Amino acid sequence: MEVLNLFTMLGTIHGLLVVSAILSLANGSGHSTKPNIVIILIDDMGMNDVSFHGSNQILTPNIDALAYNGILLNKHYVPNLCTPSRATLLTGKYPIHTGMQHFVIITDEPWSLPQRERLMPELFREAGYSTHLVGKWHLGFWRKDLTPTMRGFDHHFGYYNGYIDYYDHEVRMLDRNYSAGLDFRRDLEPCPEANGTYATEAFTSEAKRIIEQHDKSKPLFMVLSHLAVHTGNEDNPMQAPEEEVAKFPHIKDPKRRTYAGMISSLDKSVAQTIGALKDNGMLNNSIILLYSDNGAPTVGIHSNAGSNFPYRGQKESPWEGGIRSAGALWSPLLKEQGYVSNQAIHAIDWLPTLAGAAGVSLPQDLQLDGINLWPSLSGNEEPKPRTMIHVLDDVFGYSSYMRDSLKYVNGSSFNGQYDQWLGELESNEDDPLSEKYGQHVLASEVQRILGNRGLTEDRIRQMRSEATQECPLVEGQDPQDPKFICDPLKAHCFFDLAKDPCERFNLATLYPRQLQELADEVEQIRRTAIPSARVPISDSRADPAYHNGNWEWWNNTETGSSAGTCSLHLLTMILSIIGLVYRYCFE
Ligand SMILES: *[C@@H]1O[C@H](CO)[C@@H](O)[C@H](O)[C@H]1NC(C)=O
Ligand SMILES: *[C@@H]1O[C@H](CO)[C@@H](O)[C@H](O)[C@H]1NC(C)=O
Ligand SMILES: *[C@@H]1O[C@H](CO)[C@@H](O)[C@H](O)[C@H]1NC(C)=O
Ligand SMILES: *[C@@H]1O[C@H](CO)[C@@H](O)[C@H](O)[C@H]1NC(C)=O
Ligand SMILES: *[C@@H]1O[C@H](CO)[C@@H](O)[C@H](O)[C@H]1NC(C)=O
Repeated sequence: MEVLNLFTMLGTIHGLLVVSAILSLANGSGHSTKPNIVIILIDDMGMNDVSFHGSNQILTPNIDALAYNGILLNKHYVPNLCTPSRATLLTGKYPIHTGMQHFVIITDEPWSLPQRERLMPELFREAGYSTHLVGKWHLGFWRKDLTPTMRGFDHHFGYYNGYIDYYDHEVRMLDRNYSAGLDFRRDLEPCPEANGTYATEAFTSEAKRIIEQHDKSKPLFMVLSHLAVHTGNEDNPMQAPEEEVAKFPHIKDPKRRTYAGMISSLDKSVAQTIGALKDNGMLNNSIILLYSDNGAPTVGIHSNAGSNFPYRGQKESPWEGGIRSAGALWSPLLKEQGYVSNQAIHAIDWLPTLAGAAGVSLPQDLQLDGINLWPSLSGNEEPKPRTMIHVLDDVFGYSSYMRDSLKYVNGSSFNGQYDQWLGELESNEDDPLSEKYGQHVLASEVQRILGNRGLTEDRIRQMRSEATQECPLVEGQDPQDPKFICDPLKAHCFFDLAKDPCERFNLATLYPRQLQELADEVEQIRRTAIPSARVPISDSRADPAYHNGNWEWWNNTETGSSAGTCSLHLLTMILSIIGLVYRYCFE
C-alpha cells in the first residue's frame, strides 16, 4: 500500500514535470527564450591589429562597430597559447587545473584535454542548446572519442590541428617524414569538397548555413573558431585572397600586407555572420563574444607579422603582449551598451558569465576558476580587483601572475627571445580612409545591421581614445636605467601595470618585499596545479599515409566516454518517467 502511494506521488511529480516541460517548449510560439550564443574566436591576432585600439594601418570597421555598440573589452586576458586558451574557454578553468598548461598539442602527439573535464557545449546542450563548432579544435584527436562531436558539440565543421593550409586544408609536417594530410571534416567524415575555398569563407558559409537551418525553437550555441589570422603551413604561411590584400597598398612590408588581407577577410566574415543572425530573426536575442585566443606572434614560430605594440612581448611569452587580447561583447540583453570596460576579465570567466546570462544552471562540482561577470558588465559597474595566474609552466620554467595591477614575471620562454617590444608599426602607413575613421565605422555593414543605436562620431572618438594605449616616457624616468631592467631569466621581476602597462620599469630592487609577496602567492597557486597532461611523443601512427591521406585518430580504444554514460542515464530516466506516467494515468 505504502509502496503504491509512493509510486502515485512520484508519478504525479513526474507528470507535472512532463507537462511543464511541454508547456515550456510551447512557450513563445516555438521561439526559444534562452539567448543564442555566438563566440567568434580569432587565432593569433594582436591587440594592435584591430582599429578600435587606435591603429590607423589596418582598419576593421565591422569588428569595431560591434565593439562600439556593445562593450569594448579593454582588459581582456587569455592564456598565451592556442591549446591552453581553448581549453580555458571550454572549461572555465586555468590550464594548471586541467593539465593543459604546457605547450600545444603537436599533430602526432597522443594527448588531449582530459576527458574528465565537462565542456561548455556539453553543459549548454543539457540546458537545451543546439551546439556547433565551426573551425579549429586543437584539443586532441588521437582517439575518436576525444573529437568535438564526442565532447558536447552536436556538429563540427573544421579541423583538429593547430592550423591548416587556407585553401587545400592540408597539414604538412615538414619536420617529420609524413605524408601531407587533409585535416578538414564535416562531423566525423573527411570533407575534401571544400578544397580550394579560403578557410575564412568556408567557415563563414557554414556558420550562415547553421544559423539559417537552425531549429528556432531551440537556442543556438556556436563557436566560430577561425583559422585566421594564424599562419598556414611553413612552406606557405601567409595566405589571403588577392582582392583583400590589394586593399592595403599603403603597407610596404609584403608579409604585413598579406596579414592585413587576412584581417580584412575576417572583418567581412564578422559582418556576414551577424547579418545571418539578423536575417533569421535571432539577433535580438543573441550574445556575441569576439576575441583573439592569444597575442600575435610577431616573430619566431608561426610568426604572422601581427602587432601587440606598445605592449611588451608576444604570443607564448609572459608579457602583456601575449596575454592581453582584443575583444568585444555585444548583446541587446546588456543593460549598458556602448562603453569601454576596464574590468579585468579572463577567459576563465566566459563559461560562468555566459551561463549566467543565459540562465543555464551549472553543476556545483565543476570547480570553476572563473566568475560570472555578466551582472557587472551589464551594469557597467566599477571594475573589481582580480587576481590572475597568466602562465605557470614548470616544464619550460616560467610564470606570470597579476594581483590587481601588480604583476610578477619569473623566467621566460624561448630563452628570452620574445621579451622585447615587438611589432611597432611604420608611422607613415595609415590607411587613407582613417582620416574619416568615425564615418567609415558608421558606414560599415555591422553598423547597418545593428541599426542606429545613437552611436556618433564623437562617441567613437572618445571610446577609441579610451582604448588606445600610449606609453609616453615620464620626465626623469629612464627605462634604460639598470635598476629598472628586467631579465626574467636571471631574476624575477615586478611591475605596476596601473602606471606602467608596457612593462618597462621593473620595480624589483625598489620593492623587494612586495615582490616576495607575489612570489609567495605564485608558490601557493603552484600547489594547486596538477601535472601537465602533455605526452611529448611523436607517434608515427598518426601519419596520414596510414589514414587514406587524412589526419585522423590513430587509436581506436574507447574509454567509457562520459557522453555514453550520460545518454544511458537519460534513457533510464525517460523510461522510468514514461513508466510512472503510464502507471499514473492508467492504473
Ligand atoms: C622516410 O620515408 C621513406 C619513404 O617511405 C623511408 O624510406 C625512410 O626510411 C623514412 N625515413 C625516416 C627517418 O623515417
Ligand atoms: C585539392 O585540389 C588541388 C587542385 O585541384 C589538388 O592538387 C589537391 O590534391 C587537392 N587536395 C586534396 C586534399 O584533395
Ligand atoms: C526578435 O525578432 C523577431 C523577428 O523579427 C520577433 O519575432 C521577436 O518578437 C523579437 N524578439 C524580441 C525579444 O524583440
Ligand atoms: C622562479 O624561477 C626559479 C627558477 O626557475 C624557480 O626556482 C622558482 O620556484 C620560481 N619562483 C616562482 C614563484 O615561480
Ligand atoms: C590506445 O590507447 C590506450 C590508452 O588509452 C592504450 O592502452 C593502448 O595501448 C593504445 N593502443 C594502441 C594501438 O596504441
